[in-house]
Amino acid sequence: MSDKFKEIYRKSIESPENFWKEASDDIFWFKKPTKILNKSNPPFYKWFEDGVTNTCYNALDIHIDRGQGKKTALIYDSPITGKKSKLTYEELRSKVSIFAGALKDQGVNKGDRIIIYMPMIPEAVVAMLACARIGAIHSVVFGGFASNELASRIDDSRAKVLVTASCGFEPGRTVEYKPLVDEAIKLANHKIDKMILFQRSGHEVKLNAPKEVSWEEVVSKANEVDCVEMNSNEFAYILYTSGTTGTPKGIVRDIGGHIVALKWTMKNIYNIDAGDIWWSASDIGWIVGHSYIVYAPLFKGCTTVLFEGKPVGTPDAGAFWKIISDYKVKSLFTAPTAFRAIKKEDPEGKFFSKYDLSKFESLFLAGERADPDTIKWAENLLNVPVIDHWWQTETSWAISSNCTGIEMMETKYGSACKAVPGYDVKVIKSDQTLAKPNEMGDIVVKLPLPPGTFPTLWNADKRYKENYMSNYDGYYQTYDAGHIDEDGYIWIMSRTDDIINVAGHRLSTGAIEEVLSEHQSVAECAVLGIADKLKGQLPIGLIVLKAGVEKDNETISKECIQMVRDKIGPVAAFKVAIVIKRLPKTRSGKILRGTIRKIADDVEYKMPPTIDDPAILSEIKEDLIKNNILKGG
Ligand code: COA
Ligand code: AMP
Repeated sequence: MSDKFKEIYRKSIESPENFWKEASDDIFWFKKPTKILNKSNPPFYKWFEDGVTNTCYNALDIHIDRGQGKKTALIYDSPITGKKSKLTYEELRSKVSIFAGALKDQGVNKGDRIIIYMPMIPEAVVAMLACARIGAIHSVVFGGFASNELASRIDDSRAKVLVTASCGFEPGRTVEYKPLVDEAIKLANHKIDKMILFQRSGHEVKLNAPKEVSWEEVVSKANEVDCVEMNSNEFAYILYTSGTTGTPKGIVRDIGGHIVALKWTMKNIYNIDAGDIWWSASDIGWIVGHSYIVYAPLFKGCTTVLFEGKPVGTPDAGAFWKIISDYKVKSLFTAPTAFRAIKKEDPEGKFFSKYDLSKFESLFLAGERADPDTIKWAENLLNVPVIDHWWQTETSWAISSNCTGIEMMETKYGSACKAVPGYDVKVIKSDQTLAKPNEMGDIVVKLPLPPGTFPTLWNADKRYKENYMSNYDGYYQTYDAGHIDEDGYIWIMSRTDDIINVAGHRLSTGAIEEVLSEHQSVAECAVLGIADKLKGQLPIGLIVLKAGVEKDNETISKECIQMVRDKIGPVAAFKVAIVIKRLPKTRSGKILRGTIRKIADDVEYKMPPTIDDPAILSEIKEDLIKNNILKGG
């Protein structure tokens, strides 16, 4: 192994300003920054403070200026509807600049917030880039969230316009967006000015003018508009993510740092060059979708694939291989759960042999820990490097990875490889001292964070500071725990808060508990993420009823499940609510969630010395056996 990676990493940590100044020369600026990093007000750092640029210009116009306008920017493939299309950079810019004009016609100005609640169709990408073109701040909401979640995002962002579509398609059912949006608008205290709805053909819905207008109509009347000049530290977007309570956190991204960092990652982490075909099989509603379906590949001048389908069932477990083969995809980025789903359906890879994957070079996995079995299975089948890398909505790009464009490193199964240049990752033990190699602790990143991460939370500087930057002075707390080994490999073992990871989707058990507590028969409850072979984790609810409740347990359990689906959304995958007699607690009244989870996962646990009544644990075990969560015997 050469020292190339080591040297680049060292430079990024020892002189971050020089490192990122150099990277910033690779993007388009209306005015180049002269101030690279403002450290005067920690933890609120500012990258490229006096730079002026535009996200959409860097995603589209720059490539057209450089003669690449006829290259394919976006491939849309929807096995669910049977539709496929391609847009060149010129065609995509034309659509984006017209929709940007349409947004302006609806009164949208620089700094206004736009909620985008859409399925995986090209118009969703167009809407995001159109916001960027005119300096509006988008907030994309994943289609699997229910009205309540949508309403909380409308309220927190105080959005002016909501862009949606008539429907989305999930295998076996149509997701009607309009009723969900109507309900969210009713629930929200803040009132939006306009709803723009894209009518999917064959699924048109009735709109109530003048507040509700169709995409087609506004576009037919609009003129193309140019990119506006944006200060580097203005916000590109807000992406809400699960916090430790039901109130989601609005992660914000500033413009200049986002473009610089994401463009840098395409070559250095993913070994992707301009013109390469890149596919991120995620959803635009998640951070992976923002960064790697839309922004990074377009900043780099690649072709990005937008896939409206699933790894299995649309129509079969060969769906991924078909896309890779049809479009000669060089690299794919997805969540391990997608590969576990394929492995489950087609363990021998029979579908795989039908396709030509000779152009395929690497597979990247993130969103949850990639279990060694799945990595090895994928390596054997695909015969390409399979790379687990670790990141968060907060950072928007990988904190640790095998940086394949710099130097390919050895795989250690179960580890998400080494800290990426820009991130000074450490482990801190419970006594607040730095851990030695292989010692477990909280994983933190030394401040300042590199560009492209989150400079604050939307309208919540205090929450940003207290939540992430205060527990360990001078460090960002990731809320992941694990260790770093003697070779610098990072091992992410668990979350230290109540976040669970269900099929690569981040959920708060606290938020689910808040919903269950609203059921009139529920006295108290605990929600835990238990290990699941397919989805990594699944939430289960344990509920204790109020005295004197007469309804039968089964009805209450069904009602609770429905409430979570209605209030959080189907994405919570909440299918198990078990009525129990009492919850195990410490003598001070804290629910022993960790112990219950160990019992449910059937792993060894120690009797907590502070437990008020040890007999409750045997009762819980019996309940879990009765409900088929645990095997008896
Ligand atoms: N709109 C509306 N509903 C949605 C949705 C969307 N965009 N995405 C998912 N849902 C629904 C599903 O239909 C399902 O509903 P159901 O309870 O009626 O069946 C529920 O949310 C749970 O979805 P999911 O967790 O995706 O489970 P699944 O059984 O439908 O599919 C996988 C399992 C593994 C195939 C699927 O999770 C997958 O493809 N994961 C890829 C991972 C990924 O994209 N991660 C993003 C971060 S990288
Ligand atoms: P999200 O913000 O939805 O991307 O979720 C971020 C969280 O997912 C992280 O804090 C981790 O807990 C988990 N995660 C993401 N990638 C990995 C990985 N490669 N290995 C282990 N956990 C991961």
